[in-house]
Amino acid sequence: MQEKEIKFTVQVYKGADELSAEDAALVAKAKGALVNAYAPYSNFKVGAAVLLSNGEVVTGTNQENASFPVGICAEGTALSTASSLYPDTAIEAIAVTAKSGNHVLNKPVAPCGVCRQRILEYETRYKHDIKVIMIGEEGEVYKVSTVKDLLPLFFSNSDL
Ligand code: THU
Repeated sequence: MQEKEIKFTVQVYKGADELSAEDAALVAKAKGALVNAYAPYSNFKVGAAVLLSNGEVVTGTNQENASFPVGICAEGTALSTASSLYPDTAIEAIAVTAKSGNHVLNKPVAPCGVCRQRILEYETRYKHDIKVIMIGEEGEVYKVSTVKDLLPLFFSNSDL
């Protein structure tokens, strides 16, 4: 038996103003989308913005349902819309943010496990790494250069 250490690198920014202009613009789009979230049950609004390689930005928000599991995450909304509108265009980056009705989010909001898998699907589909930018309402911003960093030992189409 041997142990294998799996590492990943996350870039930590003090705040959105330390980001590149391109990343800051994507974060601004994700934050701007929050107003369209439909989250009457959790009171937790999530916004996502997807940057495509053709320069287009597609946003999405969480859409909840009285039957809770039916709800859709913001990342799923944004990625599905992007793929439906631009099926042949690779994805460069996704920014994710949130606003809670209960407390101020002072740390980055990371995509849930299902959404990490969703992002991975588009990485493998287009054979192009997707940067993931995570931010709360205030505080630090996290950025990884591929969603694989958030999914050690991932499952993908190469396993099928
Ligand atoms: N949510 C997202 O939209 N994305 C995530 O990555 C985590 C969770 C939503 C689902 C639900 O509407 C609310 O946040 C609370 O879980």
